[in-house]
Amino acid sequence: MRISVAQAIQFLSGGKVVAIPTETVYGLAASITDSEAIDQIFTLKGRPSSNPLIVHLANPKQLFQFVTSVPPQLELLIRAFWPGPLTFVLPVDPLSIPVRARSGLPTAAFRVPSHPLALDVLQAVGPLVMPSANRSGKPSGTSPEHVENDFGSELPILDGGRCKQGLESTIVMYQQEKWSILRLGSITAEAIATVIGYQPEVLEKKEEENPLCPGQMFKHYAPKARLHLTSEACSTVIGFVEREYPQATKVFLLGSLSNSEQVAKGLYTLLRQLDLEGVEEAGIDMDFPRHGLWATIAERLSRASSK
Ligand code: TXA
Ligand code: MG
Repeated sequence: MRISVAQAIQFLSGGKVVAIPTETVYGLAASITDSEAIDQIFTLKGRPSSNPLIVHLANPKQLFQFVTSVPPQLELLIRAFWPGPLTFVLPVDPLSIPVRARSGLPTAAFRVPSHPLALDVLQAVGPLVMPSANRSGKPSGTSPEHVENDFGSELPILDGGRCKQGLESTIVMYQQEKWSILRLGSITAEAIATVIGYQPEVLEKKEEENPLCPGQMFKHYAPKARLHLTSEACSTVIGFVEREYPQATKVFLLGSLSNSEQVAKGLYTLLRQLDLEGVEEAGIDMDFPRHGLWATIAERLSRASSK
């Protein structure tokens, strides 16, 4: 069900879950003050309770009512990237955020989105928790149609059209005296380096008991099709407009090798298209750069291919 900003505000204040557009992907929103609505998000998504949610704020000032310490250069990063797709994991006062939303961790994740509709809602109802609007394990929803496909037509959706970025926010954390990337995203490591003076390390997910970013441990972004990280010898190929795939009988186009923004924006629509067309197996042309946004695109495609 498509709804207006006024209805979204009314529903969220009344304890309902609503899908909201952001510049990265759609979010499934609940008020941070409503534990039942937060529970409902986990149920709707089929999300493990050990995977915490991001707290979305209307402005940077709201952050300081939650956090208990401010790492070096935080304010510089905020000035450079908020509102926008950079998420900070920070130590919090445990009483300020429901335990369920942070999965019992002593930290929480925060961002101020830049989408005008999301900001309108946040300004009216206060902080919202918002995971990506997709069933757990599926590619994030980047259009109202994606959200409807996953959750049905009953879910209230604030329609903001297609998301501008198409990939989730970049998640960073300060530890051992430096900033590191917990999840690659729409803000590149190179862009962060221009602000902090060094390239943040991308922490690999580790099969450990206490992962730094729990979400990175789960199967993710995956269509039903079996995906291979090579286009050779595959009759269905996911590739680029500049290339030819003579052996292929069907090619799904990611876009151009000269436009990573465009590839990012359409990536989840393409992965979802495989399911809509009943594709069972496909090979991905992974021969593309690994700097900037391409690093995030490569990571998402690798995760989509791992079963
Ligand atoms: O762009 C985005 O970030 C979107 C839009 C809606 O804002 N949201 C999003 O949320 O991608 P979600 O729930 O799909 O991913 C949140 C990620 C998960 O991998 C989770 O483990 C991690 O953030 N996370 C949340 N709180 C954390 C914490 N305290 N420590 C480490 N990782 C955390
Ligand atoms: Mg997600």
